[in-house]
Amino acid sequence: MESVVSFIKQNKDRYVSDLVEFLKIPSVSSNSSNKKDVEQCAHFVVELMRKAGLKKAELHATPGHPIVYGEWCEAPGRPTVLVYGHYDVQPVDPLNLWETGPFEPTIRNGEIYARGSADDKGQIYIHFASVEAHLKQTGRLPVNVKFLIEGEEEVGSENLDRFVAANKDLLRSDVVLISDTPMFERGVPSICYGLRGLCYYQIDLRGTKSDLHSGSFGGAVANPNYALAQILASMKDKNGKVTIPGFYKDVRPLTARERKEFKRLPFSEKKYAKELGAPALWGEKGYTALERIWARPTFEVNGLLGGFTGEGAKTVIPAVAMAKVSMRLVPNQDPDKIAKLFERHLKKICPKSVELTITRMHGGHPWVAPIDHPAIQAASKAFEKGFGKRPVFTREGGSIPVVATFADILKVPSVLMGIGLPDENAHAPNEKLDLGNFHGGILSSAHFFQILGHA
Ligand code: BES
Ligand code: MN
Ligand code: MN
Repeated sequence: MESVVSFIKQNKDRYVSDLVEFLKIPSVSSNSSNKKDVEQCAHFVVELMRKAGLKKAELHATPGHPIVYGEWCEAPGRPTVLVYGHYDVQPVDPLNLWETGPFEPTIRNGEIYARGSADDKGQIYIHFASVEAHLKQTGRLPVNVKFLIEGEEEVGSENLDRFVAANKDLLRSDVVLISDTPMFERGVPSICYGLRGLCYYQIDLRGTKSDLHSGSFGGAVANPNYALAQILASMKDKNGKVTIPGFYKDVRPLTARERKEFKRLPFSEKKYAKELGAPALWGEKGYTALERIWARPTFEVNGLLGGFTGEGAKTVIPAVAMAKVSMRLVPNQDPDKIAKLFERHLKKICPKSVELTITRMHGGHPWVAPIDHPAIQAASKAFEKGFGKRPVFTREGGSIPVVATFADILKVPSVLMGIGLPDENAHAPNEKLDLGNFHGGILSSAHFFQILGHA
């Protein structure tokens, strides 16, 4: 391992310049105008794999964006690690809030700023670098490694489930390794053992065939903005509980042990509110903020559109109103079951004076792993070597839809060794990745393969 570690230390600068090139590609998966860029990025990932020393690195076309697969499987009898990540990124708007261009990677104070730096290009790169270090220094890897890097995570991984189901043999492995989560706090390496699921909708209401003068017609017809506001407001009660009948039925309650473990983590709700610029925290009564984010489901209004919002005042009753809403789910809630409950409830409470259109969008299953799994223990030791500190165990509120698929279809556990930070600005302007964590991540990845190979 000594030679591998020294190789990693010597190549620090090159890793950063590789990452810069990776980050320059605007691989925004939700933008059809970026389709060529996404494809170019997939080819770039193939190149990164080749440069890392993988002989097999290939692009798999899908009806959407390509999936990149690569492997080094010359260690018969040793465990096989499937590394998953995504090379697609979120849109960049509002562009004017970026201090430097989202696709002009810039280093300030030891952090690299660019869309995708933390989510997830910087985090997948660490595994290419660690594989390269092993191969260049020893001619082999301590384990078999397969890479599955997709281009549609940020749009719901629509084509990935099918690919996994159709390629069970290709993806056969003992453990999945993922770096796509933040650490609990700066300087605190973290292993995430739970993710929330997701169930996303667009709701459209129509009141009349066109906008109306609010003086001539106000009072005679329903206002879709108002109807939408009433519907949305009724989705949670005053204690922050979601009111959809049956919503909590399958929620696995937090165990006393887990609540105790969460409380041991260094977390101040007051400091958290301040950092977020929130006048006060709010949420389901009876639970701490961490419990609410990590282990309780929620209902959110992601966006609202309706009526007049321009300069000045306009007396109008809008013809239509629209909302994007989503529910974050926890074990053992099932997105399809929740979808049925939600749609039935929405139809029931929607006033007959407006026409309702419900459109289901992407989603994913929630996931939680047993933390005593040997691969998780290997990850813990690897982090200790890479960061000089024992990791804490966390859950996260975000979703990585394919993790549940790996458990269900491949029957393989996932280990989440994320190296992002809570203030990484993922999905927001000025996304960044700490370069210290980047290098610590490469070292940890190299140690993970080593430890797992010699367990
Ligand atoms: N890397 C995130 C997932 C994540 C975020 C995990 C925060 C833990 C904490 C991933 O890229 C993501 O953004 N997922 C989406 C999934 C959706 C588009 C189906 C999410 O959580 O909104
Ligand atoms: Mn991600
Ligand atoms: Mn993301």
